[in-house]
Amino acid sequence: MELTRYPELTDAELTTAMNHAVQQVRCGLQDYTDNMKYPNSVNNFYPLMDNTEWTNGFWTGEVWLAYEATGEECFKQTGLKHVDSFLDRVNRNIVLDHHDLGFLYSPSCVAAYKLLKDEKAKEAALKAADKLITRFQEKGGFIQAWGPLGAKDNYRLIIDCLLNLPLLYWASETSGDPKYRDIALRHIHTALSVVIRPDYSTYHTYFFDPQTGLPTHGVSHQGNRNESAWARGQAWGVYGLAISYKYTRDPQYLELFRHVTAYFIDHLPSDLIPYWDFDFSDGSDEPRDSSASAIAICGMLEMAKHVDEEEARQLIRDSRILMKALVDRCAVSDPACSNGQLLHSTYCRSTPTNGCREHGVDECCAWGDYFYFEALTRLSKDWEMYW
Ligand code: GLY
Repeated sequence: MELTRYPELTDAELTTAMNHAVQQVRCGLQDYTDNMKYPNSVNNFYPLMDNTEWTNGFWTGEVWLAYEATGEECFKQTGLKHVDSFLDRVNRNIVLDHHDLGFLYSPSCVAAYKLLKDEKAKEAALKAADKLITRFQEKGGFIQAWGPLGAKDNYRLIIDCLLNLPLLYWASETSGDPKYRDIALRHIHTALSVVIRPDYSTYHTYFFDPQTGLPTHGVSHQGNRNESAWARGQAWGVYGLAISYKYTRDPQYLELFRHVTAYFIDHLPSDLIPYWDFDFSDGSDEPRDSSASAIAICGMLEMAKHVDEEEARQLIRDSRILMKALVDRCAVSDPACSNGQLLHSTYCRSTPTNGCREHGVDECCAWGDYFYFEALTRLSKDWEMYW
C-alpha cells in the first residue's frame, strides 16, 4: 500500500477532532463516573457495568487524556474516583486472574501517578505488577495469558501481552526493583521468537508444552485462521515493539517493528480502514476493525520519537494519513449517534475454527476509543505516554 498518494490530517482537522473527542468524554462523565463502560458498544452506545472487565482501564484513560487536554477539575475528580475503584479491585482480586493487568492499570493508575503523583494510584499499579509477574512460567519463559496457571489447554502466551509489559517496566523504574523488568524481558524474548512469522505477519497465540517448556503451535483465538494475520494482533505487535524499544533500546525490536508495521500498512484496503483480519481486503463484506489502525498509529508515533529525523518524518506522515482515514470514516462527531469515539471496530468475529463468541462486531470498543484519543493527543503535543 503506497500511502503517499493519500492526504494527511491537517492541523485544523486535528483540532476539530480533538474538540469532539474531549466533548464525548465530557458527555460520558455523568453515566460513567460511578459505573464503568462495557467493553463494546451495543448499537453504538455503551451499556453500564462494574469494574470487572479487562477493558475498564481504557475509559479511565480517556478521562485522563481529557484532563490533560483541558485541565478541567471534572475530569480529575472522575479519574481519581476510578483510581479508588482500581485499588479496591486489586486489593480484593476482582476478576484479575489473567494477564491483562497492564491494559487495566497503565491507562488508569500509572496515568494518574504520572500526572498527579497520586500515591493510591502508585500503590494500585505496583500491586497489579506484583500480580502480573505471578503468571510467569519458568518452563517456556512466558507470562501465561489466560486460565488456571499451568493448565495444559491454556499453556500459552498471546501477542496482546506486549501491551501488558509496560506496567512491568514502569514498576521497576518506580520501585527500583529489577524483577519486573527482568520478567518482561524474558517474556518478550520468548514471544518474539514464536509469534512473528517469516513474512512478518503474526500469530495471535502460541502454545507451549508444560512438561518441557518447548513451543508447540500457534492458534488464533480471534483471527480468521490459525495462519492468518488478525488485524488487531498485528497492531498489538506494532505498538508493543515500539514500547519495548523505548524502554530497552534493543535494536532487534526496532528492526522487527519496521517489518511488522510494513506488513500492517501493506495489507490495508484502499480506504485504509483495516478489515478485522488481513485475510480480507477490498470487495469483502466482512467487518472492519478501526481499533487496529488506532493502535498501530500510536505505535508509529511512539517509534517516531526514537529514530532518526528522516524515519521519524515518514512515520509521522504515515500516521497522519491513517489518522485522516479514521477521522473521516469512523470518528464520532455527533453525540446523538454514539457515546463512543470510534465507530466500526470488531471485538470478536466468530469463525468455525477460532472458538470465540461473536460480539462487538461493527461497534465502538473501549480500546478503539482510547487509542484513537491517544493518537490525537500524540499528534497534538509531545506526549508522555501512560504506558
Ligand atoms: N486483548 C484482547 C483483544 O484485543 O481483543
